Amino acid sequence: MSHNTFGHLFRVTTFGESHGPAIGCVVDGCPPRLPLTAADIQLDLDKRRPGQSKFVTQRREPDQVKILSGTMPDASGMEVTTGTPIALMIENVDARSKDYDEIAATYRPGHADYTYDMKYGIRDPRGSGRASARETASRVAAGAVARKVVPDLLVRGALVQIGDIAIDRSRWDWNEIGNNPFFCPDAQTAKKWEDYLDGIRKKGSSIGAVIEVIAENVPPGLGAPVYGKLDADIAGAMMSINAVKGVEIGAGFESARLTGEENADEMRMGKNRRPEFLSNKAGGILGGISTGAPVVARFAVKPTSSILTARKTVDRYGNETEVSTKGRHDPCVGIRAVPVGEAMLACVIADHYLRQRAQVGEPVNWPFPPSNK
Ligand SMILES: Cc1cc2nc3c(=O)[nH]c(=O)nc-3n(C[C@H](O)[C@H](O)[C@H](O)COP(=O)(O)O)c2cc1C
Repeated sequence: MSHNTFGHLFRVTTFGESHGPAIGCVVDGCPPRLPLTAADIQLDLDKRRPGQSKFVTQRREPDQVKILSGTMPDASGMEVTTGTPIALMIENVDARSKDYDEIAATYRPGHADYTYDMKYGIRDPRGSGRASARETASRVAAGAVARKVVPDLLVRGALVQIGDIAIDRSRWDWNEIGNNPFFCPDAQTAKKWEDYLDGIRKKGSSIGAVIEVIAENVPPGLGAPVYGKLDADIAGAMMSINAVKGVEIGAGFESARLTGEENADEMRMGKNRRPEFLSNKAGGILGGISTGAPVVARFAVKPTSSILTARKTVDRYGNETEVSTKGRHDPCVGIRAVPVGEAMLACVIADHYLRQRAQVGEPVNWPFPPSNK
C-alpha cells in the first residue's frame, strides 16, 4: 500500500527523506552481465545536482552515488551487473533542518504539507521529507541503469518553456544543451531566460516550465494493449515527478486543433525494407505500442510553492495565518526536472523492453518480405 516501487520487470524502489542520512534506490530485475560502474551513474546525477547555478537551489549536495550490491568484476575485470538487486545510495550532507522550524505546523499553499498531514497524521517538515524533490536523485540513479538495458537507447531532454517564454523550435540544437544553465536547446532563448529568471529569483518568487523528453532507437513493438500501454505508463511516470501538472505525448493537446490529414503520420518504405513515418504526431506510439519512431513526451511543472511572498493559510491547529518560505529553493523546478524526466522515460522503456522480451522474444525491427509487385 505504500507505493514506493514502480515498474514490472525493471522494478525500482526508492527510499529516504530530504534530511535523513541518505536516499537511494533498489533496482531489481536488471539483466546480468551489463557493464555498470558508479561513474556511469554519476554522469547523470551530476546533471541534476543542486547548487550548480544561481537559478537552482543553493543546497550543496555532492550527490556521490555508492553501488552497494548487484555488480562485480567479470573474468576480464570489467564491473558488470550480476542479475541480483542493485542497491544505490546517496548520502545527504547539506541538510539545514532549522530552516524549516517556522513551517513545521503551518501548511504551505501549493506544497504537500496539508495532504501528508491529512493522510498520515504526522509529517516530516525538514526539507519536506519524502515530498522533497531530493527523492528524484534516486530516480536519476535508476534511470542510468535503465539506459544500459535497451541496446543503443538514447534518451535526451530539454527545457522548452519557462513562464510565457518558449524556445523557437527551428533553432533546436542538442549541442546547446550543455552551453547554458537551463538544458535549453535554443541559445537565443536561453539568453532571454537568464534575465527573466534572475528577476523572479531576486523577488523570491517562482515560475512554471515545460520539459520535453525524447527517446531514440526504441524498437517497434514495446507496450501492451490494453492496460499496459506504453503512453499510459509514460504519462504515469512523468506525472509521478514532483510538481508535474500536465503530460503530453507527441502532438499532445495540439492534436485537438489538427485535421485527420494533418495528424496522419504517413508511411513510406525506408532503408532495408523497414517502414518509416514521414512525421511523428503520434510521438512514436500507436495503440499503446512503440512504432520505432522517437518516443516524445512533454510535461509541465508548476511554479515552486516555497516563495518569499506571504500567502494566506492555516496551521495544523486550525488557526488562520500567513506563510512565507525562507530557506533554499529552486526558483524554477523545471531546470533540474530535465534529467529526472529523462530517467523516468528510460525506466519505462527498459521495463517494456524486458516485458516484450519475456512475452514475445528479443524485440526486432522486422524487415518486410520482398515485395510481390
Ligand atoms: C527538480 C525539482 C526540484 C524541486 N525543488 C523544490 C523546492 O526547492 N522547493 C519547493 O517548494 N518545491 C520544490 N519542488 C516541488 C515539490 O517537490 C512539490 O511541489 C511537492 O512535493 C508537492 O507535490 P506536487 O507539486 O507534485 O503536488 C521541486 C520539484 C522538482 C521536480
